[in-house]
Amino acid sequence: MRLSLLFPVLSPSLLVLSQTLSSYISTEQPIAKTNLLANIGAAGVKAPGAKPGIVVASPSTVNPNYYYFWLRDGSLVFKYIVDEYVSGRDTSLLSHINDFVAAQTILQGVDNPSGTAAAGTNLGEPKYYVNETAFLDSWGRPQRDGPALRITALTTYANSLLAANNKTFVTNSLWPIILKDANYVSSFWNQSTFDLWEEIQSSSFFTTAVQHRSLREAITLANAIGQTSQVSAWTTQANNILCFLQSYWNPSAGYITANTGGGRSGIDANTVLASIHTFDPNAGCDATTFQPCSDKALSNLKVYVDSFRSVYSLNSGVAESSAVSTGRYKEDVYQGGNPWYLTTLAVSEQLHLALKTWSTAGSLTITSTSLPFFQIFSSSVTAGTYSSTSSTYTTLTSAISTYADGFISIVQKYTPSNGGLAEQFDKSSGVPVSAVDLTWSYASALTAFNARAGLLSNSWGAKGLSVSGTCQSNAGPTVSVTFNVQATTSFGENIFITGSDPALSSWNPSSAIALSAANYPTWSVTVKLPASAGIQYKYIRKETDGSIVWESDPNMQITTPASGSVTENDTWR
Ligand SMILES: *[C@@H]1O[C@H](CO)[C@@H](O)[C@H](O)[C@H]1NC(C)=O
Ligand SMILES: *[C@@H]1O[C@H](CO)[C@@H](O)[C@H](O)[C@H]1NC(C)=O
Ligand SMILES: *[C@@H]1O[C@H](CO)[C@@H](O)[C@H](O)[C@H]1NC(C)=O
Ligand SMILES: *[C@@H]1O[C@H](CO)[C@@H](O)[C@H](O)[C@H]1NC(C)=O
Repeated sequence: MRLSLLFPVLSPSLLVLSQTLSSYISTEQPIAKTNLLANIGAAGVKAPGAKPGIVVASPSTVNPNYYYFWLRDGSLVFKYIVDEYVSGRDTSLLSHINDFVAAQTILQGVDNPSGTAAAGTNLGEPKYYVNETAFLDSWGRPQRDGPALRITALTTYANSLLAANNKTFVTNSLWPIILKDANYVSSFWNQSTFDLWEEIQSSSFFTTAVQHRSLREAITLANAIGQTSQVSAWTTQANNILCFLQSYWNPSAGYITANTGGGRSGIDANTVLASIHTFDPNAGCDATTFQPCSDKALSNLKVYVDSFRSVYSLNSGVAESSAVSTGRYKEDVYQGGNPWYLTTLAVSEQLHLALKTWSTAGSLTITSTSLPFFQIFSSSVTAGTYSSTSSTYTTLTSAISTYADGFISIVQKYTPSNGGLAEQFDKSSGVPVSAVDLTWSYASALTAFNARAGLLSNSWGAKGLSVSGTCQSNAGPTVSVTFNVQATTSFGENIFITGSDPALSSWNPSSAIALSAANYPTWSVTVKLPASAGIQYKYIRKETDGSIVWESDPNMQITTPASGSVTENDTWR
């Protein structure tokens, strides 16, 4: 008897690990929640000056200064808060939610460098001062995921109010915000955007995925409250967005390309975050919406995680079947280019959501697309469907569960003793770096812990959607831009323009747009460009021998107006 106590059935190291992990989670969960709320005005102790319902991205004011409200961060944080409220886990959060609603009504009325409230183009603005005024300095704008994420937070709240027969508040206070945001998504989804890391202007998987989800939610709510005037237009665009979403998948390399521009591998936490933030507990392992357990999202997850195995010294020597620290993307250099807490936690969250979905379904399916992922855990496994009563299912899910927990264990290892979560941890030493108390880091810990505990968000209608055969685009509003450039040329030499928008040949000099010399030495052309868009361009000379001379750096930049036309007067540089 005594001997058996010395040799327990579970390996001692595993037992210790899981005990340590659950004790970490039970200690960290309340710290994360307290620190998250501390960053929200007006009462938050680390958010002085922030208006009610305004989320400060981090209390850090220097290197980096994150003392702003970002619509993306704020909406993701409030999605967590709303989920806690509507699930009944914490009804004390209601006043924060109503503060958030009131703050968003104000922000939607603020004219800013992305556009005007009258045209609705201001909604693409990524960040504001915490006193609800416009941030006027140059920035990567517009960022078109913000209105979508706000729709998701607010429709989740609206649905719970409808279930409680409180349609009045939904119609009078929530619907006006959601209507503006949904019209914005519907009109502008097909125009370029800065990605969630605010670096690349192109099309971005995260943005497209959350836009798709948000329009479906807005349509369902519109029908529920009888505000159906936009439903048909939004449904057309939701179908178009879902079609476009498929195009990010790279079938030969088995991952989702995060951005269509930017000149990187495109392997990026963008895609993992998109999968968890568009999770639908009723959609099973649907691959058209890249559900966490879909073959595409799992293949992508393996490629993403493995891309960090050789870039951080923290990860050296770790076996392929074990978790490693992950960051935004392997080419990252921002603040030293380190692993991030929220991206490492997102991997765990995707895997726990997948495990929960398989458990509910009573089986898991391996396809040729997801086979490399499953082979991490069993080299001999083959494609097929495995019932939860099979030994293959048990072997795989228990190994995946251990692997998923490993990502939280890494965060545990690099959490300082006060439980604070910064933005990053050093890739060699593991010490916290960059912004302290990042609100999004806390939200990501709380949602990862919920997923592990099987506490899931509500469905948004992802089940049973089908993709149309040919994708339709949506130009959205355009404006006429006349480009005039003073340039003296020699005989046979001609001036062309190229730039970041498809109407400017997407930087392809061989299809650049010719300018007319009718008013020589002013060369001129008028082009239709997307309204309220930041567009970069350069003039080029094509020589008689066919060679090309570019203008000197940097690129020229314009922000197009919301409507009407504009003339740019440049001189060749
Ligand atoms: C809002 O905050 C910004 C940044 O601190 C400040 O420059 C601006 O004057 C403030 N505006 C108002 C109306 O308080
Ligand atoms: C409806 O919800 C709002 C916001 O929470 C609340 O102020 C109001 O009292 C509710 N009305 C009813 C009838 O429950
Ligand atoms: C617009 O949609 C079309 C059709 O899906 C797609 O080919 C194109 O890349 C999209 N462009 C942008 C900027 O979203
Ligand atoms: C360019 O010149 C035209 C006519 O000379 C003028 O109307 C226009 O405002 C100028 N554009 C800018 C951006 O200054």
